[in-house]
Amino acid sequence: MPNQGRVILIRLPPREICIVTAFVLLLVLLPLGLMSITWLIGEGTSKKTLVPTGAPSNSQMADKNLNARVEKLLAKMSLDDKVGQLTQYTGGIKTGIGAGNDDYDSLIAKGQVGSLFNVVGAKLTNHYQHVAVEKSPLHIPLLFGYDVIHGERTIFPVPLALASSFDPDLVQQVSRVAAEESADDGVRWVFSPMVDIARDARWGRITEGAGEDTWLGSILAKAYVQGYQGDDLGKPDAVAACVKHFAAYGAPNAGREYNTVDMSELTLRQVYLPPYHAAIEAGAATVMSAFNPLNGVPATANPFTLTKILRHEWGFNGPVVSDYGAVHELINHGVASTGAIAARKALTAGVDMDMMSDLYRTKLAPLVRSGQLPESVIDEAARRILRVKFALGLFDHPYADEAKTPYLATPAKRALARKAAEETLVLLKNNPTIPYLQPVLPLAKTIPTIALIGPLADSSTDMLGSWPAAGEAKDVVTLRTALQSRCDSTKTKLLYAKGTDTLTDSDEGFTEAMAAAKQADVIVLALGEAASTMTGESSSLTRLDLPGNQENLLEAVTRLGKPTVLVLFDGRPLAIKWAAAKVPAILEAWYPGIEAGPAVANILFGDVNPSGKLTATFPRAVGQEPLFYNQLPTGRPADDIDLTHPPTGEDKYFSRYIDETNAPLFPFGHGLSYTHFSYSKIKLNQSTISAELLTHPPKGRFFSPPTEIRVSVEVQNTGPVAGVEVAQLYIRNTGGSVEEPVRELRGFQRVALNPGQSKQLEFTLGFKELSYYNLDMARVIEPTKYQVWVGGSSEASNGAQFEVTE
Ligand code: NOJ
Repeated sequence: MPNQGRVILIRLPPREICIVTAFVLLLVLLPLGLMSITWLIGEGTSKKTLVPTGAPSNSQMADKNLNARVEKLLAKMSLDDKVGQLTQYTGGIKTGIGAGNDDYDSLIAKGQVGSLFNVVGAKLTNHYQHVAVEKSPLHIPLLFGYDVIHGERTIFPVPLALASSFDPDLVQQVSRVAAEESADDGVRWVFSPMVDIARDARWGRITEGAGEDTWLGSILAKAYVQGYQGDDLGKPDAVAACVKHFAAYGAPNAGREYNTVDMSELTLRQVYLPPYHAAIEAGAATVMSAFNPLNGVPATANPFTLTKILRHEWGFNGPVVSDYGAVHELINHGVASTGAIAARKALTAGVDMDMMSDLYRTKLAPLVRSGQLPESVIDEAARRILRVKFALGLFDHPYADEAKTPYLATPAKRALARKAAEETLVLLKNNPTIPYLQPVLPLAKTIPTIALIGPLADSSTDMLGSWPAAGEAKDVVTLRTALQSRCDSTKTKLLYAKGTDTLTDSDEGFTEAMAAAKQADVIVLALGEAASTMTGESSSLTRLDLPGNQENLLEAVTRLGKPTVLVLFDGRPLAIKWAAAKVPAILEAWYPGIEAGPAVANILFGDVNPSGKLTATFPRAVGQEPLFYNQLPTGRPADDIDLTHPPTGEDKYFSRYIDETNAPLFPFGHGLSYTHFSYSKIKLNQSTISAELLTHPPKGRFFSPPTEIRVSVEVQNTGPVAGVEVAQLYIRNTGGSVEEPVRELRGFQRVALNPGQSKQLEFTLGFKELSYYNLDMARVIEPTKYQVWVGGSSEASNGAQFEVTE
């Protein structure tokens, strides 16, 4: 009977219907119910991975098809072909000492070079690329690298200045322009960002990084990488970033360049490694190892940093290039007695490409052939280098477009360069000059006579900073030029006198400078350092005052008692104690790039309100260095002691100097505005939170307890003009298993406010912000007490507390 089944079902007794229905309902509803309950109250089981997984850091370079192409090519390569890929030379200027070769055409044709750097321009890069693609045995394209540190052709402010903007979007835009210009010049690999934390102003390379703070440095590291690489390395205007210098290069003993670095693993992980890690997490395609030894092992042959941390913990899947000649320097470090040993040590530790030592090319193949080095190590290094070349699309599009319009400093680029410069200037001091009541700045537009004095007032090359890549001085608008065109339009008389050089003891120019100063109603002094000789690589100092006789000039001019502004052009914090006490207004301009003059003039006249904040502490005396705000506490803090005079009794036995206070001249985060900002009292969403919730936040959406501390505060512009405040949040953690700094930045926001306007800000403090390394090198949150402050500098006093329970 065709309908029998139905009849049978219909005739089931009610008790059985109930059982079946209940069973079906149970099957269907139970999981649903459980899911929704979980969804409502939260799972409570999301285990946070405290130890990184080591998953490949760059997904493009981990792509299956890409790696299949790499393997196919690798299988065809001889040992010598592979070694060739591991070899790099400068094909242009020499930016260091070290061996090398000059017969590049012939080496490339034999497949003995994988990369050239300092070769710039579509025509020149194409020349070498044609040799590689057309004549080398396997037609593998070259990768061209270049030190594009703060712009390629359009030069922006130096990185230390860019950091003062506290503006990651700006940093990303700047590095995007740099990437486009580099790619136009045939360069698809930039040796940037330099993310070395630098806490010592004696070190000349402090100018190339973001300064002393780990949190800010990490955020900016990511912004640089995103700007350079974009969302796809294969796009013709994307360039591979090279994070450098791995690791802890910014902490040489005594601030002396290339000197040894010795620090605890706790400090290394807590302070120095996070910016490199942030860049790797953002997908940075390559890394450069550092010159320095770290805890007794040169960074170029250090398996702990290059393999354990970089590869295993962070999953980095790109290549590591040595710094210039650093493989050879292993001999000087005393860890290798021959070039062959140096090459083997560097390669096996994790350096895939040899920059300028010429040791990989000459020593690696013999080492393999004599059984002293497994070929698989070379395979792995070649694999990593080929991955980048494939990801950049070099095999499909090896050449730069020579037909492109030559470089033009377009209005858009100039506008960005000016905006960048304006955001990075830091107003350190702004007082009135007796008998006036108003601060010296901003200057009135009706001043009859201005004297502009100093060796940096009209020096276009210095405005480009220590590493201007392909930038040209002719693109720079100096302060003198910018002030002159402004004065022409306002009928102000501008008197200019160089006064002195950046480094001389001749005071021949003083007379002219003093004469100009005496005639003027306002004096602007442009003093500081010579960019290329006093800042950047190999420019460590034992003195941090104004070089040469500039201090004498400054003092003579200031003593006239006129409204005087000191504009500092330099690459590091200087110890300008006299100026800080006596000069009424001081503007830190760093090296602002091609739009230096207009940017400084706009700030001086108040067309733009300064908003930059220091990211490197200014010391009172060089002897305070290394000086940074986020120091660890001591058992004898001198907080309540009057340190302005030498100790007289019991006030001696504190962590202090007897001839100087502990305080900085200008602290981290400091920077004035032409308006004022006030902060309301801080509010927290709760005063306790459990370590468990912070560490393993449940994923539910409703009814789950807050898994982070929310800090809210209102900031108001209480002054007369519109301005931008960089609101900064700091924490201190006490009661944990290890010491934590007396303050640490854990959040910041740039807030633009009109006069009278206010804005409610919210910061969240979760695992990322509150965790730290314990003695087992695990990132943890322990039951402790936290203080939190929000304000306009690292000395903010507007605070609150909360507690972390079990
Ligand atoms: C040495 C510097 O330390 C490094 O930053 C730079 O990228 C290389 N030379 C190449 O010029």
